[in-house]
Amino acid sequence: MSTFQEGLAPMAQPGDPAPDTGCAVYIETYGCQMNVYDSQAIEGLLKQDGFAIVQAERDADVVLLNTCSVRDLAEHKIISRVGEIRNSRRLAGAPEAIIGICGCMAERVGPGLRKGNGRVDLVVGVDNYDKLAPQLTKLTSNRPARERIHTGHRTDAHYVAPPQLYPTNNSHLVTIHKGCDYKCTYCIVPMTRGPQSEKDPDTILAEIRTIVAAGGREVTLLGQNVTAYNWQAGMDFAALLEKVVEVDGLDRIRFLTGHPHDMHPHLMDTIGRLDKVCPWLHLPIQSGSDRVLKRMKRLYKSQSYLDMVDYARRAIPDVTFSSDFIVGFPGETEADFQATLEVIKAVKYDQIFSFKYSERPGVPAAKLADDVSVDEKKRRLAELMAVHDKVWNTEAVQRVGETWTAVVEDAARRPAGAWRLRTANNRKVVVQQGDLAVGNSVTVRISGFTNTTFHGELVG
Ligand code: 5AD
Ligand code: SF4
Repeated sequence: MSTFQEGLAPMAQPGDPAPDTGCAVYIETYGCQMNVYDSQAIEGLLKQDGFAIVQAERDADVVLLNTCSVRDLAEHKIISRVGEIRNSRRLAGAPEAIIGICGCMAERVGPGLRKGNGRVDLVVGVDNYDKLAPQLTKLTSNRPARERIHTGHRTDAHYVAPPQLYPTNNSHLVTIHKGCDYKCTYCIVPMTRGPQSEKDPDTILAEIRTIVAAGGREVTLLGQNVTAYNWQAGMDFAALLEKVVEVDGLDRIRFLTGHPHDMHPHLMDTIGRLDKVCPWLHLPIQSGSDRVLKRMKRLYKSQSYLDMVDYARRAIPDVTFSSDFIVGFPGETEADFQATLEVIKAVKYDQIFSFKYSERPGVPAAKLADDVSVDEKKRRLAELMAVHDKVWNTEAVQRVGETWTAVVEDAARRPAGAWRLRTANNRKVVVQQGDLAVGNSVTVRISGFTNTTFHGELVG
C-alpha cells in the first residue's frame, strides 16, 4: 500500500500484510473536493490498519460522515442523516452502527455532536485522521475509548491519498495545501480548516509520480486557495506548476480553487505558456458590487477582476472561466445585485455556482444584520441563474460545428454505450458512439448542447 503521511505516526511498510480487524467501514462524503480527497486518504489509512471499506451503508459496522459546514443547510443534512441511519437500522432489526463525524463539522460543532438526536460515537476533525483507526479499534472491541473527540489544527498533518483507490477516474485529486489565511467575512473555512499550511513540493511531486506510475495522466491540484501556495521564497504556485509539468507521463494539470487576488500577470503568463496546464480558471468573484466586496473582505474590486479576466484571455489561449456567487449578503441592495448580473454578462462564464448567503456562527459577517429576506434571496438566486443561462446559451450556440480535442472521463449513465468527455478548458461533451476507453484523447465535432453539456460526434 503506497499510502503515506507526512509527520504523523510511523507507517506500515509496503508489502506488510494488513491485520484483519473484521470491521467494515462505509465513508459518505459531503462538500468540496478537499473532502473527496480526504475521504480517499482516510480509506487508505483504515485499509492499512486492517479495516475493510464497503460501498453500501447497510453492509457497514462503522459509518463515517465526512462533513461540510460552509452553509447551514449542509450541517442540517448531516444531523438528519445520522437520525436516518439509526432509525433504518432499528426498523430493520439490524445492529446499531458506530457513527463517526469527520471533516469541517467535527471542527465547528465538535462536542455538541455527542448529544441529542444527532448523537454520534466519534468526532475526528480534519487534522486528526491518524486517530481514526486506533479509536475505531477500541470502539469495535468494546474497549473503553474515553477520548472520542479529536479536533484542533496541526500544521504537520498532510495526508496523501493512494492513487490505486481510483484507477478508473481520469483526473486524480492532489491536495497541495490546507487551510486558508484569507479572512472573507462570510466564510467558516478559516475556522474549520485552520491556517494555510503547505504540503512540501517534494511530497506533491512524489505523489504525482505515484499517480502516473498507477496509470494516471491527469491531476487536479487542490486547495482552498491554490493560487496562494507559497512553500518558501521562490516556490510559489507558478513555480510549483513549472515543477509539476516536468513529471514524465503526466499530460494535464488542473487546479481548484484560485483567488482573484492572487491571479498575477506572471501566474497567468505561466499558465498560458505551459502546455500541460489546462486553460480553465475557477475564480470565485462572489459579488459584482465593490461595496459588497469590501464588506466581504475579498481584496479586489469588480473592475480589477474584469481587467484580470481580460489579461487571462490574452495570456491563456482558449481559456474558460467559472465562478461562485453569493446572493443576499448582509446589506446587499438591488443595485448591488444588478452589478453582479453585469459581471456575469461581461465574463460569460462557462459555469457558475451560486448560493444564498447563510450566516455562520462566529464569522465576522455574523455581526452584520442578515437583512435580505429569504424570499428575496430566492428571487435573486433564480434571476442570477436565469441571466447566466441566457448568456451561456448565446455563447454555446456559437460553438456548434466546432471541432475539439477531448479526453474520455467515464461511461455516461444514459444512453447505454455513450461516453462522457472533457476538453482541456473544462467543457463537458457526450458522444453516443465509439469503441472508447477512459483516458483516450479523441477529436469530436460539436452538434448541440443541453445546459452546460455539449453533444458531439467522433471525427476520424
Ligand atoms: N453563505 C453562502 N455561501 C457561502 N460560501 C462560502 N461561505 C458561504 C456562506 N456563509 C460559498 C462561496 C464559496 C463557495 C465554496 O461557497 O461562494 O466560494
Ligand atoms: Fe473562505 Fe475566502 Fe478562504 Fe475561500 S478565500 S476559503 S471564501 S476565507
